[in-house]
Amino acid sequence: MSSTITKVAARTEGLRKVYGEGDASVEALRGVTLEFAVAGFTAIMGPSGSGKSTLLHCLAGLDSPTEGHVYIGDVDITTLSERQLTQLRRDKIGFVFQAYNLIPTLTASENITLPLDIAGRDVDRAWFDEVVDTTGLRDRLGHKPTELSGGQQQRVAGARALVSRPEIVFADEPTGNLDSRSSDELLTFLRAAVTDHGQTIVMVTHDARAASYADRAVFLGDGQVVDEMQAPTAERILDRLKSLEV
Ligand SMILES: Nc1ncnc2c1ncn2[C@@H]1O[C@H](COP(=O)(O)OP(=O)(O)OP(=O)(O)O)[C@@H](O)[C@H]1O
Ligand SMILES: [Mg+2]
Repeated sequence: MSSTITKVAARTEGLRKVYGEGDASVEALRGVTLEFAVAGFTAIMGPSGSGKSTLLHCLAGLDSPTEGHVYIGDVDITTLSERQLTQLRRDKIGFVFQAYNLIPTLTASENITLPLDIAGRDVDRAWFDEVVDTTGLRDRLGHKPTELSGGQQQRVAGARALVSRPEIVFADEPTGNLDSRSSDELLTFLRAAVTDHGQTIVMVTHDARAASYADRAVFLGDGQVVDEMQAPTAERILDRLKSLEV
């Protein structure tokens, strides 16, 4: 019998995150153990305050867990020095923030290539063109963020996360401020990055329709994984959310 080995792009083991101390402390994550397969598209869902952003920040090495481990590939990032972590983030991780974090003095094009420029890496022009065309940003490349709509800024942030072809992209509500057409375009692009280019994506979303583009939905409740669904559809997700929130 042959066995299929699924490669793991990232995983967490018994992840706990406590903010603050004493009476004022908040346990944002209470023992989260999850795996993210290479070339998988996972949606993280759950009510406001359930720990979604905290989980994403810990996975991307932007926040350190109180207990437990985070692996990117085979590397336990909780054991890395700040310098090693910075390098790993630059080389392997793309991040789309809940706020887009664009640099106001740079054009869209410069914002997109900024992570590569910082890392001193060449821009793969063919891939840059593909990213720019599928995010519909071609005629906006010379514009500064203030000259772009919210949706266009969000797409620049999406393009920036993908242009360096990181092994894994973490996106915190990347379609949060988009109308349904721009949202569909960005999600179609993320889907293609997974299906056609073997990209691994972990995306936080409140939107059942957005989550239906993923291969799997993970539901958080009060800092814990409360449910999972394979090949989610918007309808099944809405049903599940209803039953989880009562
Ligand atoms: N820096 C912080 N200091 C203290 N508490 C925090 C901090 N960041 C988050 N929390 C708390 O941790 C819990 C989880 O927050 P988190 O931002 O992960 O939720 P979320 O699921 O992303 O919510 P939302 O959907 O509103 O973005 C919340 O109770 C929040 O108040
Ligand atoms: Mg959040």
